[in-house]
Amino acid sequence: MHIITVEGIGDRQRGLHPVQERLAEAHGSQCGFCTPGFVMSMYALLRSSKHPPTEEQIEDSLAGNLCRCTGYRPIIDAFRVFAKTDDSLYTASPSENANGQAICPSTGKPCSCRNETDVNANESSTLSSVKVYLPCSYNEIDGNSYSEKELIFPPELQLRKFMPLKLNGFNGIRWYRPLKLEQLLYLRSCYPDAKLIIGNSEVGVETKFKNAQYKVMISVTHVPELHTLKVEEHGLHIGSAVRLAQLQKFLKNVIAERGSHETSSCHAILRQLKWFAGTQIRNVASVGGNICTASPISDLNPLWMATGANFQIIDVNNNVRTTAAKDFFLGYRKVDLKADEVLLSVILPWTRPYEYVKEFKQAHRREDDIALVNAGMRMHITEAEGNWIVSDVSIVYGGVAAVPLTAAKTEKFLVGKKLDDGLLDETFNLLKEDIPLAENAPGGMVEFRSSLTLSFFFKFFLYVTHEMNIKGLSKVGLDAANMSAIQSYTRPVSIGAQGYESVGQGTAVGQPMVHMSAILQVAKCSPGFAGLFLSKDVPGSNHIGPIIHDEEVFASDIVTCVGHHDNAKVAANKVNIEYSELPAILSISEAVKAGSFHPNTTRCLSNGDVDQCFASNTCDKIIEGEIRVGGQEHFYMEPQCTFVWPVDSGNEIHMISSTQGSPEASEVCR
Ligand SMILES: Cc1cc2nc3c(=O)[nH]c(=O)nc-3n(C[C@H](O)[C@H](O)[C@H](O)COP(=O)(O)OP(=O)(O)OC[C@H]3O[C@@H](n4cnc5c(N)ncnc54)[C@H](O)[C@@H]3O)c2cc1C
Ligand code: FES
Repeated sequence: MHIITVEGIGDRQRGLHPVQERLAEAHGSQCGFCTPGFVMSMYALLRSSKHPPTEEQIEDSLAGNLCRCTGYRPIIDAFRVFAKTDDSLYTASPSENANGQAICPSTGKPCSCRNETDVNANESSTLSSVKVYLPCSYNEIDGNSYSEKELIFPPELQLRKFMPLKLNGFNGIRWYRPLKLEQLLYLRSCYPDAKLIIGNSEVGVETKFKNAQYKVMISVTHVPELHTLKVEEHGLHIGSAVRLAQLQKFLKNVIAERGSHETSSCHAILRQLKWFAGTQIRNVASVGGNICTASPISDLNPLWMATGANFQIIDVNNNVRTTAAKDFFLGYRKVDLKADEVLLSVILPWTRPYEYVKEFKQAHRREDDIALVNAGMRMHITEAEGNWIVSDVSIVYGGVAAVPLTAAKTEKFLVGKKLDDGLLDETFNLLKEDIPLAENAPGGMVEFRSSLTLSFFFKFFLYVTHEMNIKGLSKVGLDAANMSAIQSYTRPVSIGAQGYESVGQGTAVGQPMVHMSAILQVAKCSPGFAGLFLSKDVPGSNHIGPIIHDEEVFASDIVTCVGHHDNAKVAANKVNIEYSELPAILSISEAVKAGSFHPNTTRCLSNGDVDQCFASNTCDKIIEGEIRVGGQEHFYMEPQCTFVWPVDSGNEIHMISSTQGSPEASEVCR
């Protein structure tokens, strides 16, 4: 494994990498918290693409990165120049090496793309942010232009032979990496409680945020039998350690090569993967990891069940058994897997002619978000006595119970029926019985989630009806008003422009200048934690707030929000804090009832003598009423990172903080 960090690709001394300089020049960073992540996502995309990526690929690769303060337009604009549709970077002012050869911004290597595109230079259309791009690829020390060779995968690592690994960590933790299935099964027999790991995207969350501790961990990333990806007579054979990004690629190829009636399931899984986490997670997360985590909101498990997939399981004595996906999930995060067993692979059957599969996922937002409700549905239609009837159907919902739920009564009702509008009322009634959501169901938003279960089925019904109509099996076409319900969601590439007047009066004010920290942010992140400070250590005021200073930096007495206690994470795990619950006011109406108002916040908009005007009988209309605006659901904010170091034997401290309110921060430090 060769890990390249943001510091490795360029810095102020050696010169910035084109990706770094673009982000800095295009005003793509503010606090800089997210900046190294954006740089490395873009760098990884360029390094792994044989050809310049499309704009869509660029946006896809950034979907797993969050920025709270800059806004995505300048970030996307910064990187748009690397897309193959935009030649401006190649034609405008590409970097050159010592021999005068142009350096390709995509690869960082000498190339001839400048010559090829010069011809079209005058015709190329550019965005405003692209026009203002001026390369800053020079060494600040000696003024040399950026000529750093792209980092290569170290040959000594390339030549290294893989070895089975056994590592010992803190507190007696042992970590194994077998290279063969038999080694894995042997380790499994020795350590039945061992945690298997592939992408660590779930186990990492458990150990980091849920205090889970596993004494023995077995990484199965290098066991070839778990990496199989094969096209077989009856369907696809997918190894449990196959990464989701690999599966995406494989399914695309299979879809291109096989008959369309065979690949309806492949299409549905591929479409679901598009909105599964972001590229970073899909690159590491595995098929088996998702199945064995058995999360009630897994996006894939309802689909494995609906498509009729089977799971192959191997035990430590080499016995292989097969179980249907629909029988595998036993309870909340509980699966049909014994301590001496390992999930080997998934067998995904081909679909038959007139068999349709569709995926559904509703989340707060499309990208990198977990589902509120998701579903997988499959229906097979066959002809009987001149009618096309439902011969087999599978309807499975996720996010509505501890396990993915099959709508069993609805399925039974539909089999043997002619598919038409007349079925819908009864189907909806049965769905409500099959998928009951109690008022206090975990996850809340019960009415909305209940309506999603019905609307997903309605969309599926329309989809199958439409497919039948296209094939001439049904005369009933789809109402134009319903057409949008069957179209898969696609988002066009983002566009946006910021217009501003540049007022040059000999000062920096009003000029679109790159801010002072930008180059530091794109090239280097804070080295880390330097000390532990408690409320008693705050020398100045411990109170902050945007306008009214009514919040404590570190809680001294009453904890007012989750995590608001001053302990380092490790130490916090050992602390048992007893909270006594205070009466809480959780809604505006409760606050009004309790007369709990923020001081000095009464706002009244009035113009003239309103009472007199109303009493004068001269108003055409008097509208009275009350309006309430609910709070927005919170999205997380990044933690404040601060790097502090003492100088002058501690008489003075220097600080780099990601805060946007630096005067407040320095006030607190005083
Ligand atoms: C930021 C983020 C976004 C996410 N978004 C989504 C999303 O949109 N949709 C969604 O469904 N999930 C999502 N997840 C959950 C997670 O990505 C998936 O569950 C992932 O597929 C787990 O795979 P992994 O290889 O990382 O599993 P790991 O963490 O390595 O392992 C997970 C579990 O599976 C067990 N296991 C792994 N392989 C085997 C095997 N062969 N036999 C037996 N047990 C095995 C492990 O012991 C462990 O208990 C998200 C997670 C994160 C962190
Ligand atoms: S610059 Fe992106 S979070 Fe601040």
